[in-house]
Amino acid sequence: MENKWRDAKIRNTRNRYVLVTGCDSGLGNAIAKHLDRLGVNVFASCLTKEGEENLKATCSSRLVTLRLDVTNKESISKAFHFVKEHLPTEKDLWGIVNNAGLQTLHAPIELHSDSHFEKTMAVNLFGTVYVTREFLPLLRRSRGRVVNISSDAGLMTWPARSAYCMSKYGVESFTDCIRREMYYVGINASTVIPGAFKTSIVSPAGMTAQLEDACSRVSEEVRDFYGEGFYEEYICPDTGSQKPDPGNAGKSVVASSPINIFAVIAFFAFLQQ
Ligand SMILES: NC(=O)c1ccc[n+]([C@@H]2O[C@H](COP(=O)([O-])OP(=O)(O)OC[C@H]3O[C@@H](n4cnc5c(N)ncnc54)[C@H](OP(=O)(O)O)[C@@H]3O)[C@@H](O)[C@H]2O)c1
Repeated sequence: MENKWRDAKIRNTRNRYVLVTGCDSGLGNAIAKHLDRLGVNVFASCLTKEGEENLKATCSSRLVTLRLDVTNKESISKAFHFVKEHLPTEKDLWGIVNNAGLQTLHAPIELHSDSHFEKTMAVNLFGTVYVTREFLPLLRRSRGRVVNISSDAGLMTWPARSAYCMSKYGVESFTDCIRREMYYVGINASTVIPGAFKTSIVSPAGMTAQLEDACSRVSEEVRDFYGEGFYEEYICPDTGSQKPDPGNAGKSVVASSPINIFAVIAFFAFLQQ
């Protein structure tokens, strides 16, 4: 739906500097490339050296890569100093896109170990919280914005996705907190609900391996309760679009008046106001 006010974009994208997390693959990689094409100066953080090299090879010289593990406080602090030192004099950071995320298991709660919950929360929720907290001071002068990649699982609870849904509900709540706390400072916060697309998070092969591993660790009583052949039930069909669509994340960074939730799925379109 066309909305001129909503579609209005900020000026001078070439003067804007934005940090994106989890750019090795998938949506983060697509967002980094998309923002680069829009003329934004991207600090693309990757988990691996390989990720950095692949991205650099396909982007303009404006894009700068760095290493960042969002679960590691020292790595977050290093990334902060790296960005601060690489911002040209008199330039501020305009945005943070918290994209790094994972799904450790698609299965009922009883099959989850402590580490399935802890790892999911550490990357999806606490990674988002700690990266935002560290970088907020750099956004104050620019009156910039925080963009958090959430999911339909942050608005609706699906069975067999407990850890992932809990983490994304947390991301939704955290984004609302930032938006309300920073309202008077002029910093905006939005979530992006990107729809379903094929990445390692939802790869049937990866999910089967995770499930087999989880099943091998639970008691016989639990295995018997779920019965034979329940594997197939919890492996998601190979659905979703082939490629992630970075369009809404791009809009959330360059919109003059960003909305609270940028959603791809038509069902959630009513939230876009
Ligand atoms: N795929 C979907 O259908 C879907 C739907 C809704 C929302 N999302 C959300 O979209 C975001 C991107 O996911 P994706 O589907 O594009 O999956 P992906 O291809 O696996 O991308 C996730 C990225 O996060 C990185 N990452 C993992 N742990 C990290 C850590 N500790 N520190 C920093 N980076 C880390 C991964 O690095 P490595 O590749 O090196 O592991 C990867 O680059 C996630 O927040 C996800 O929840 C995805």
